[in-house]
Amino acid sequence: MLKKGIICVVGLGFLAGCNSFDGLIEKKETLLGIPHSGKSTVPVATVVEDEVWKDFFEKESEVVVAPEEPEEEPATEEDSEEPADEEKPAEPEEPSEPEAIPVVANPGAMNVMVNKFWSLPEGYRPGDLIKPNVPFSFGDENSDRSKLRAEAAESLEVMFNVAKGEGIELYARSGFRSYETQEAIFKNEVATFGYEQAVLYVALPGTSEHQTGLAMDITAKSVGLELVEAFEGTAEGKWLAENAHHYGFILRYPKGKTNITGYAFEPWHFRYVGVEIAGEIYAKGLTFEEYMGDVREF
Ligand code: DAL
Ligand code: ZN
Repeated sequence: MLKKGIICVVGLGFLAGCNSFDGLIEKKETLLGIPHSGKSTVPVATVVEDEVWKDFFEKESEVVVAPEEPEEEPATEEDSEEPADEEKPAEPEEPSEPEAIPVVANPGAMNVMVNKFWSLPEGYRPGDLIKPNVPFSFGDENSDRSKLRAEAAESLEVMFNVAKGEGIELYARSGFRSYETQEAIFKNEVATFGYEQAVLYVALPGTSEHQTGLAMDITAKSVGLELVEAFEGTAEGKWLAENAHHYGFILRYPKGKTNITGYAFEPWHFRYVGVEIAGEIYAKGLTFEEYMGDVREF
């Protein structure tokens, strides 16, 4: 007889080895193509524990399903590890909303750094979002994802045009994302792949560079307009990695730097920081965290 039970999608979605960075290759950033990612002067404050977020999102992802045949006999009194009623500890409190991640003091600066330790102010949305005149993977659409802040959008347009002149055809795929969109993407990623893998590819809402309006995911026909690690080996991916800094963009999540950035290698994610900073980061082979002098090992 089937009876209703609760299965945590997160638990089912977790793939063996996902907590090993090296095991994560050829992973797509799901949903990113559909409607849906100066130094701070803020003093160091409490950082949200990973476990707190994990509890929060696992709880959010619970769904009711009809399970298949039970896999195990019900436990007998003898093999139960549950203490007798009188010995039971008090019920744990309901997981509350996670504590706030410290907020940057300069959300509107071109060099704002948001990551797993610094978030944007609640509801932040830049006021100068515009749509650059470049090809998009999803065609012509006047939506959030086709926009960037004006300075970044203008520079992206120049970069795409120069690339085109050199036979490199680039496609923009995911620009600005609101907090709500990032939240939806994050929850979907957790439900599909599990928390451990989700946090390697998708930022928690409020901590995505896409919400700054300064990041664009870029792809090409050579990889089916997808966001995949194989983009690194394409002519377009190589061109971007070598030339984006001339236009003020950095490859924000480089290969082998997960211990610093907190994210897996994303050869498609380019962040506008301005030509000066981008040039220095490129020349010195730094991550943005290293450039800002705010490195915390994962
Ligand atoms: N994929 C990057 C980390 C983001 O979600 O902002
Ligand atoms: Zn991105």
